[in-house]
Amino acid sequence: MSYMAQRVANFGTTIFAEMTALANTHNAINLGQGFPDFTAPHFMKEAAAQAIWDDVNQYAPANGRPQLREAIAQKMANFYGLSPDPQTEIIVTHGATEAIFATIMGLVNPGDEVIVFEPFYDSYLPVIQIAGGVPRFYTLRPPQWEIDEATLAALFTERTKLIIINTPHNPTGKVFSQAELALIARLCQQHDVIAMTDEVYEHLVFDGRQHLTLASFPGMAERTVTISSLGKTFSVTGWKVGWTIAQRSLSQAIFRAHQFVTFCGAAPLQEAAASAVSSPPAFYSDLTQFYAQKRNFLLDALRSAGLEPIAPSGTYFVMVDIAHLGFASDVAFCRYLTQEIGVAAIPPSAFYHNPADGAGLARFAFCKEEKTLEEAARRLQRLKSG
Ligand SMILES: Cc1ncc(COP(=O)(O)O)c(C=O)c1O
Repeated sequence: MSYMAQRVANFGTTIFAEMTALANTHNAINLGQGFPDFTAPHFMKEAAAQAIWDDVNQYAPANGRPQLREAIAQKMANFYGLSPDPQTEIIVTHGATEAIFATIMGLVNPGDEVIVFEPFYDSYLPVIQIAGGVPRFYTLRPPQWEIDEATLAALFTERTKLIIINTPHNPTGKVFSQAELALIARLCQQHDVIAMTDEVYEHLVFDGRQHLTLASFPGMAERTVTISSLGKTFSVTGWKVGWTIAQRSLSQAIFRAHQFVTFCGAAPLQEAAASAVSSPPAFYSDLTQFYAQKRNFLLDALRSAGLEPIAPSGTYFVMVDIAHLGFASDVAFCRYLTQEIGVAAIPPSAFYHNPADGAGLARFAFCKEEKTLEEAARRLQRLKSG
């Protein structure tokens, strides 16, 4: 007899764990899981060490250390012209992952419908299911990943409670446009729907494109939960410092869930996060340039290996069209690539409710040191003789 509760029984283990294990077994260069393999900014490590030496070692306030909430509010003002109240409208969480969990648990009732763009980040669906919500999918299609107004509008019903937007979007690299976000804003207001925007890649946008935050659209600040975190922007995915920004009554709902999930995140890391979030504009523009170079390098490497990458506008991922290569599925291709070529990628079918929709794609991460990417490029050349 299994002791496992039904609510988790069908979740399985994540594809990241499986591909990372396979990569390790075969000594493959891991371009699968999206974590940087380079060092974090020196000033942040010093700030974290200093906070520990200063004995910032006890529980943080449940909504986060005040310095961090104030720094987040200031950043929202600097980048997006928004002015959330750091006392009542910002909650610091244990990474964006907990922010997503607390938001959905705090806002979605059993039977409520939640609109999700797919491919989706892998935590959305299990959390919607735990909350008893009903997912309704909008399938983004390569190579443009664009949104068709009528198809999206048809997903809104009187039972729709929430729409989840992830921009810049993992895994496609899509950056939602002004027109697309305006359409979402209009539909949310028309149908009295709340938006949860996952913006963890907000500072990884290329080719002069601009990240737009839905909360800044007219009428949306009062119905949007904006989520972001430190992990991607500051190359510290293991620190797990994230946050939600939402008007007071939405924040209260999120807080009720958050207080019984973690109560608070790690206090000294929140202290260091406050200095990170207060970084000058040059930090963010340098980051964009740093990643734009890596993106271009990987795009060239993939093309020169005979693959067909779809250039991303944001994030640190590239999707590759593998449909014509003759593999049974994306999983078969990624296994072959890891075992025979020595480079691991992620099969995106795990990010679709109908896996067949992702079976012609593979996702590569470029948040890696130059030498890692160079070695991957060298190995990918083997595809030509394969
Ligand atoms: C779209 C998206 N949302 C959320 C997260 C999780 O963020 P965190 O590490 O801050 O929990 C990730 C991490 O890969 C992500 O890609």
